[in-house]
Amino acid sequence: DKGGYEHYMLKEIYEQPTTIEQSFKGRIAVDGKSIVLGGLIDVMPQLVKAPRIIILGCGTSWHAGLVAEYLIETYCRIPVEVEYASEFRYRTPVINKGDVIIAVSQSGETADTLAAIKKAKEDGAIIIGVCNVVGSSIPRETHAGVYTHAGVEIGVASTKAFTAQVTVLTLMAIQIAKEKGSIDQSEYEILIQEILEVPNKVRVALSKEDKIKSISDKYSDAVNALYLGRGYLFPVALEGALKLKEVSYIHAEGYAAGEMKHGPIALVDDNLPVVAVAPKDHYYEKVVSNIQEVKARKGNVIAVLNEGDLNLKEMVNDFIEIPSCHPAISPLVAVIPLQLLAYHIALNRGCDVDQPRNLAKSVTVE
Ligand code: F6R
Repeated sequence: DKGGYEHYMLKEIYEQPTTIEQSFKGRIAVDGKSIVLGGLIDVMPQLVKAPRIIILGCGTSWHAGLVAEYLIETYCRIPVEVEYASEFRYRTPVINKGDVIIAVSQSGETADTLAAIKKAKEDGAIIIGVCNVVGSSIPRETHAGVYTHAGVEIGVASTKAFTAQVTVLTLMAIQIAKEKGSIDQSEYEILIQEILEVPNKVRVALSKEDKIKSISDKYSDAVNALYLGRGYLFPVALEGALKLKEVSYIHAEGYAAGEMKHGPIALVDDNLPVVAVAPKDHYYEKVVSNIQEVKARKGNVIAVLNEGDLNLKEMVNDFIEIPSCHPAISPLVAVIPLQLLAYHIALNRGCDVDQPRNLAKSVTVE
């Protein structure tokens, strides 16, 4: 049932205020001062003293893992590696005593992720799952875990499962930090408050759909597209590019904005749309200078920016506003316009957004 929407992908994009809330509900105390992750209670001591955390996933789930890398390193001061499960399983990865593996998977059935955790388990690692489908194969192989509670995701391109994964991984990161003592109580409470405000900020981001649709009409004939972001928003740039290529078949690449001059800038000409995720965070000035570099080469910049950023609005070809939020929480809000942009461009191109060619919802073979 598409609930009145034209496609499952659109329905699932619009479900996100609710699904994000489902992912934190019951896990944040009513007074907003603590987090309880029931599924992690037994392994919290190991997480707190973990010498290293390795996050495994594929595709969108790997992108959620990248967001978690920034969070865990910032707040928990634990070294993190994020690996493609398909690579990890065939390497000879070094797993030391005490290392913790976090497997991220919507379906819980991805063959590579499943094989990777089986291997790490044999090597003695503690395995934690962050999965959506309850009772699926990956959660059955893990020692502990947290379900993402996004509900059934039918659109092949993952949307609400991604924001649910990021929500859960954010709760995990700040709770590990809290138990470890690497975050102070006030920062901890600020972050909890920010998480509680996400559903409303996502609603505001969704309200820009008409604007996004009109932007999509200008860029639907693109052959290539570049997505740029920094820090917490670098994985969001990767995810935006993946969404576009999956549903519209436009070749798109996500890049850390600072890497642009090391190669991709050679692609910039007056045919190239460049989507720059540029809210007013710590990296704002740097992303703006990357945008200027694109503009100087006649690229078309579509900026995802904060409401009221007149300076940047003047500089770019098109812009999509998002509410401002704490940088650590910003992926949850900034990804919304990128999902809608991919959806509308794909529709304009007559693509089957719910069932893109060559893709399967759950990749149970390697
Ligand atoms: C992207 C997408 C895929 C999956 C990947 C992992 O929209 O759907 O990239 O994210 O196949 O799947 P799960 O999360 O089920 O392990």
